[in-house]
Amino acid sequence: MSIATDSEPKQPLRVVVVGMGVRSMIYTRVALTNPELLEIVGVVDIDAKRRNYARITFGFPAENCFSTVDELIAVPKFADAVINGTMDRLHVSTSLPLLRHGYDMLLEKPFALNEDEAQELLACVAETKRTVMVCHVLRYAPFYQRFKQVIENGEIGKVINIRMSAQVNYFHESVSFVRGKYASAEICGSGMLLTKCSHDLDLMAWLMGNNKPRRISSVGSMFQFVPENAPEGAGTRCLTDCPADVERNCPYSARRLYIENPQRWADNVWHDSNISRPETDEDKAAILSGEDNPYGACAYRCKTDIVDHQSVLIEYADGATGTFSMTGGASISKRRVHVTGTRGEVYGTFENGRFTISSIVPGAPEGRVKHVVDVTEAQEGCHHGGGDREVILDFIAYLRGEPTSPGKTLLEDSVTGHRIVFLAEKSRMSNGTMQDW
Ligand SMILES: NC(=O)c1ccc[n+]([C@@H]2O[C@H](COP(=O)([O-])OP(=O)(O)OC[C@H]3O[C@@H](n4cnc5c(N)ncnc54)[C@H](O)[C@@H]3O)[C@@H](O)[C@H]2O)c1
Repeated sequence: MSIATDSEPKQPLRVVVVGMGVRSMIYTRVALTNPELLEIVGVVDIDAKRRNYARITFGFPAENCFSTVDELIAVPKFADAVINGTMDRLHVSTSLPLLRHGYDMLLEKPFALNEDEAQELLACVAETKRTVMVCHVLRYAPFYQRFKQVIENGEIGKVINIRMSAQVNYFHESVSFVRGKYASAEICGSGMLLTKCSHDLDLMAWLMGNNKPRRISSVGSMFQFVPENAPEGAGTRCLTDCPADVERNCPYSARRLYIENPQRWADNVWHDSNISRPETDEDKAAILSGEDNPYGACAYRCKTDIVDHQSVLIEYADGATGTFSMTGGASISKRRVHVTGTRGEVYGTFENGRFTISSIVPGAPEGRVKHVVDVTEAQEGCHHGGGDREVILDFIAYLRGEPTSPGKTLLEDSVTGHRIVFLAEKSRMSNGTMQDW
């Protein structure tokens, strides 16, 4: 990118999208709303439909469409950066050649599947001196930004304990982690703690600042989605062999979720099956009835090989403690956080857009003073509390040498949260054994 003088307007960041899927579509909207900030100049995707979508939407020439990263790096670098929105398993293998070819990168989380991959990526960034920013979008949401300020300003004293939880509602859980593209460690490359909750453990790491974990343990299992829990008399597929009285009473009925209530994440079914949204209910039923279609299968018989609930316990270097619990299959999705310090507490629920600060005030009538911080207006109607847009704006600002967010998520800032997950998984797989940092 050319550096502008004070009198000259800055150029938009020129970006090639690698993996033109759902996430990249969200980030690249900025090129449409703010062309002065971002220009999409090329695409890499194995799927011709997605390449065409990008070319038509952003109006770049056909010669800037590539099927693989190898094809892109076979031509001289022609953009400032890439957005890497490929699936988890491809993050490191696609990033290494792109960084070596000189591209800076906005990279989706998880940035690596395990410690070895993380080390490989970190070494490559050190060697190439390129920038990698990780899409930990929640750090940019006003709720967590303000929450972090409260802790950093010392309003609750020194942190003694941090409790966090994430519950995933039953239709998100089933479409993504039971029937969908994250249900198999073999396909996705990891389990639910990394793919879903690397955000939460990143937030915990960020809120704890320079206080690093000393040791970690974790337990979890597949509790709900096993054949023994299928309703009595249930079939193997909701639309073909499940008796109507059983299907009507099952929370995971594919007919109820994806045909009768499409707002319950049915679009993921069509997108992740790589088909356009079917026009009629009959078309949807025919697709879901297909013998190999995972979204029409009984949720209890999907042979999902990841956990649906997991808890993590962390002891920090200064003796503070942290816990995190993830539960899939809840009635509603919620992320809760409660931090207790030596001078008070701060706690709230992200989706409610409000948190409470309760301070120890010995002279006050109740011995404490409470007040509520409300960010509902700032987060209203924004997915991830607006973090999806803020992260790409921050990436652009960083590369243009402009002021950035105090919570920015460069690769080095994102390592601790991922490492907590890697050690938690190691612990879970060794029966909850404590793992040293
Ligand atoms: N930050 C967040 O909050 C958040 C939320 C959801 C998902 N994610 C992560 O975002 C990533 C993308 O998820 P998604 O839902 O957009 O996936 P997606 O399946 O919609 O998109 C992936 C794209 O990559 C393309 N692709 C596949 N192989 C490729 C290759 N070898 N080279 C180039 N392109 C290739 C696919 O054709 C597809 O267009 C995942 O890692 C996921 O875990 C992040």
